[in-house]
Amino acid sequence: MLDFTGKVAFVTGAGSVGAGWGNGKATAVLLARRGAMVCGLDQSADALAATTAIMQAEGLTWLPLTCDILDSAAVGASVAACVARFGRIDILVNNVGGSAPGDPVSMPLEVWQAQLDLNLTSAFLGCKHVLPVMEAQFDREGRGGAVVNIGSVGAMTFQLGGRVSAGYAAAKAGLVAFGRSTAIAYVRKGIRVNTVIPGSMHTPLVEHRLVRQLGAGDAAKLIADRHAAVPMGRMGDAWDVAHAVAFLASDEAGYITATQLVVDGGMTAARST
Ligand SMILES: NC(=O)c1ccc[n+]([C@@H]2O[C@H](COP(=O)([O-])OP(=O)(O)OC[C@H]3O[C@@H](n4cnc5c(N)ncnc54)[C@H](O)[C@@H]3O)[C@@H](O)[C@H]2O)c1
Repeated sequence: MLDFTGKVAFVTGAGSVGAGWGNGKATAVLLARRGAMVCGLDQSADALAATTAIMQAEGLTWLPLTCDILDSAAVGASVAACVARFGRIDILVNNVGGSAPGDPVSMPLEVWQAQLDLNLTSAFLGCKHVLPVMEAQFDREGRGGAVVNIGSVGAMTFQLGGRVSAGYAAAKAGLVAFGRSTAIAYVRKGIRVNTVIPGSMHTPLVEHRLVRQLGAGDAAKLIADRHAAVPMGRMGDAWDVAHAVAFLASDEAGYITATQLVVDGGMTAARST
């Protein structure tokens, strides 16, 4: 079993849009259950409070930080708070993200820009503030860190007649390129950078946002359709993402950098044949 005892993780979007398990929330709790000291950043105090309740009930080591990931100064202050409390950062999970529908004509410029910010600039800012901490650790003691970005198959598979989210697709595709180039920039500094690419996951987002966005009055049908669209016959869940993140963040993945781990029940392979 992967062990993170003594490690410090910084997870962005560590809450969840609704009750239940979002990817960042599950990742934060999984890393903490495996021994990590975890800082969880989220712009929603309520969402963070739900994660805090779980961490406290299980006696896990946890520092919640209410912060907008797009406010660079505030992110810097959050990273400083994490280092002040735990002394280091070994793992950064850039999880904040979310999709808005639209193509270049139907999508207002502001929505396009906001999609690039939420899904790509968010990871840029996480790295901007955490990488120097990891690099200093490497200079000091030969141990750097691991960054895991959360991408999406929404940058890789497109169904004819399906929903188009051009801004999300562009940003998540850019996230892969961002991760690969950052990985090479830091490859001699003891820092690995990889991207987990979830497929169709049954997180609270489905009930909270997709049912409304897709105009589906019938949530049960939407969920059944999403299950059926996956070769395995079911959507994944936040734990599938969390376990993939944990692996890439672990010492066991020490020779893995600048790559992607697709967690999609076979979806991309089935769509590309
Ligand atoms: N759920 C899926 O099916 C799915 C599939 C592929 C990829 N993903 C990706 O997984 C990641 C997490 O998705 P989820 O469904 O678990 O998310 P979620 O929406 O449940 O949780 C995201 C959290 O991020 C927080 N957040 C949003 N904007 C923020 C900001 N500006 N600053 C700080 N915090 C902010 C929210 O408050 C929320 O608690 C996203 O990057 C998403 O694109 C999800």
